[in-house]
Amino acid sequence: MAENGQPTGVYSASKDFIANAHVNAEQYAAMYAASVADPDAFWGAQGKRIDWIKDYSTVKNTSFDYGNVSIKWYEDGTLNVSANCIDRHMISRANQTAIIWEPDSPAAPAQHITYAQLLENTCRMANVLKAQGVEKGDRVVIYLPMIPEAAYAMLACARIGAIHSIVFAGFSPDALANRINDSEAKIVITADFAPRGGKKTALKSNTDQALLHCDDRVKCLVVKHTGDQTHWSAERDVDVKAEMAAARPYCPYVEMNAEDPLFILYTSGSTGKPKGVVHTSGGYLVYAAMTQQMTFDYQDGDVFWCTADVGWVTGHSYIIYGPLANGATTIMFEGVPTYPDAGRFWEVCAKHKVNQFYTAPTAIRSLMGMGPEWVDKHDLSSLRVLGSVGEPINPEAWNWYNTHVGKGKCPIVDTFWQTETGGHLITPLPGAIPQKPGSATKPFFGVKPVVLDPATATVQEATEADGVLCIADSWPGQMRTLWGDHARFEEAYFAQYRGYYFTGDGCRRDADGYYWITGRVDDVINVSGHRMGTAEVESALVAHPKVAESAVVGYPHDIKGQGIYAYVTLMNGVEPTDALRKELENWVRSEIGPIAKPDLIQWAPGLPKTRSGKIMRRILRKIAENDYGSLGDTSTLADPSVVDELINNRMNRG
Ligand code: WT7
Repeated sequence: MAENGQPTGVYSASKDFIANAHVNAEQYAAMYAASVADPDAFWGAQGKRIDWIKDYSTVKNTSFDYGNVSIKWYEDGTLNVSANCIDRHMISRANQTAIIWEPDSPAAPAQHITYAQLLENTCRMANVLKAQGVEKGDRVVIYLPMIPEAAYAMLACARIGAIHSIVFAGFSPDALANRINDSEAKIVITADFAPRGGKKTALKSNTDQALLHCDDRVKCLVVKHTGDQTHWSAERDVDVKAEMAAARPYCPYVEMNAEDPLFILYTSGSTGKPKGVVHTSGGYLVYAAMTQQMTFDYQDGDVFWCTADVGWVTGHSYIIYGPLANGATTIMFEGVPTYPDAGRFWEVCAKHKVNQFYTAPTAIRSLMGMGPEWVDKHDLSSLRVLGSVGEPINPEAWNWYNTHVGKGKCPIVDTFWQTETGGHLITPLPGAIPQKPGSATKPFFGVKPVVLDPATATVQEATEADGVLCIADSWPGQMRTLWGDHARFEEAYFAQYRGYYFTGDGCRRDADGYYWITGRVDDVINVSGHRMGTAEVESALVAHPKVAESAVVGYPHDIKGQGIYAYVTLMNGVEPTDALRKELENWVRSEIGPIAKPDLIQWAPGLPKTRSGKIMRRILRKIAENDYGSLGDTSTLADPSVVDELINNRMNRG
C-alpha cells in the first residue's frame, strides 16, 4: 500500500481483450493527441457516427470567456435524436432487442422490446403528447418509475422536439412542483405507483399534491402501471396506456437544430435552488454514443446494463441515448440491488447474459457487506467490463468488485463525469489504459483537464499536482446553459477560474499523469452517488417553524460515501428532544425526498460565525468528521466558545 492508502497495483486488460478492443494504448495516444490538436477535424469526423438530416458545415464554436460564455457544436446541422436512436436501426435491427425491461419482482416476466416495438410505442406516445397540445420547444416533466414508458416518453419528446425534464421518482411533491414551475412545463407524465424493493411509492398522489402549486393548465398523463386505485381528475388526468392503444402507430419525427435543447435536468448546486442543466441535441448525442461505445468497449450484440435510474444523467446517457444511438441492447431495471435478496444484481446479470455492468460504489459497498456468497451463486461468465460512477471508488470496494464480480478478468472503468458534462470526462478505456484502483485515470478524447492551485488560480504545469480540477476547452457533450439563467451558468462554472470550466472537484495528478478525484471543494455533498446541495437541506430545515438556523455539511459514511450532518439551532424556548429530531428528519424527507434526510442532527445553541456573520463551515466540517484536533485559526470568530460546545456534543464519534 502506498502512503495515501491506495493499493499501488496497476491492472491491465488481458492480451485477448486488448486485441479485440475498439481502442488500444497506441490508438488512444494518437487519437487523444489528434483530438486536442485539432478539435474541428476530430469531432468533425466523429459527428458522422450519427445521422444528420442536414449535414453541418462548422464543428466547434465555443468560448469559455467569462461574460461571453457560448458553447455551440455542429451548429448548422439538423437531426432528430429519436430517429437516431430508433428509426435508423430499422433496416438491420428491427427484430433485435433494444430494451430488456427487468421488473421489480423477479417473479414477473422480463420484457424484451425490439427496435420495431420501440419505434411503435415511441410513436404512439408522441401522438398522445401531440394530442395534448405539446409542440416543439414545449417542456414535458417526466416523473416515472423505471418502466418502458419512461423510455418511450423521453424518445417521444425528442421525436416531436419537446424538451423533457425528468424528476427522479424519489423526489417529493414540493421538489416536483418546483421543477414543473421552473421549466414552465405543459405536461407531467407520471404513474399510479412506483414499485421498488417490494414497496410502492404513490407517484400519482405525489403529483396531485405537486399540481396544487402549479398552473391549472398543466395536464397529468398517468401510466396505470400497478393498476392500484388513485384519485382521478376527469378534466386534467389522461390514461396514457389507453390513449397510446388508440393512437396512430406512426409519428413522423421533426427536424431539429443541433443546438435545440434535448432535455433539462435539475441538479444541486452549492447555493440556491436546483439548477436546470440544459443539454442540446447534436453534440450531446455524438458524445453519449461515443463514450458508451469506447469506455465500455461495447461491441455489436453485447448486452449492456447501467443500473442507474433515468432520473439521473447516468440514466439519460447510458441507459437511453448512448446505447440506443449505438443500436445496443440496454437493460432497464425497476428494482433495487437487495430485493428480494442481495443476489439480485448478479441474478439479473446471469439471466440476461450481461456483458458490461455499470454501477455506483455505494451499491458495491452495501453488497460487499452481505458477503461474497450472494455473488458466487450466479454464473457471471458473460461479464467483460465493469464500470463505476458517482464518487471515488475506495480500494476495498474496488478489490471486491474486481475479485468477486469480475473474477479478476474484467477491467474496471472508473468514470468521472457530471450532470453538466453529458458524458465521461476522465475514464480508462479498458483496452488502452491500465487501471489504478481509485483513479479515474486519463481524459477522454477532446477533454483537456488542468489542475489549478486554488489559492493563486494558476495552472500547475508539473505532472505531479494537487488542486482543483478545471477543463480548458469544450467537448460536444457539455451543458450549454442553465434553463432561463445564463448569468448563473457563467457565475457557477466560469467565474472563479477565468477561461476554464470549473468542475467543483478537487484533484491530484500523479507522476504517471493519472487523475485522482478527491471530492467536491464546494458546498455540494455526494450521498450514495447522489448530489445534494447543503444549502437546499438548510433551507428545508429553516422552513420548519421550530428551527431558527441550520448549517449542513457532509461527513464520511461507510456505505453512502458521505452522510448528511445537520447542525440545528432551535427557536427560543423549544425543547431539543429525540421526537423533534425524528420530526425534522421526516420534514426534510417530505420537503425534498428521502435522499436528503439528515443522517445526524446536532442541536447547536450557537454556530461558529465570523464577526461579519458568516458561518465558518470549515470548522463544522471538521467537527462532523470527528477531526476536531486541527480546527485551524478560530480567532476571527465572534464567539470562540461555541466551538467547544459543539465539539463536546458532536454526533459522530466513529
Ligand atoms: C459529481 C457529479 C455523472 C455521474 C453521476 C453523478 C462525483 C462522479 C466520479 C468518479 C470521483 C466522481 C464528482 C462530481 N463523481 N463520478 N468516478 N470519481 N468522483 O453526477 O450528480 O452530477 O455528480 O460526482 O464529485 O462532481 P452528478
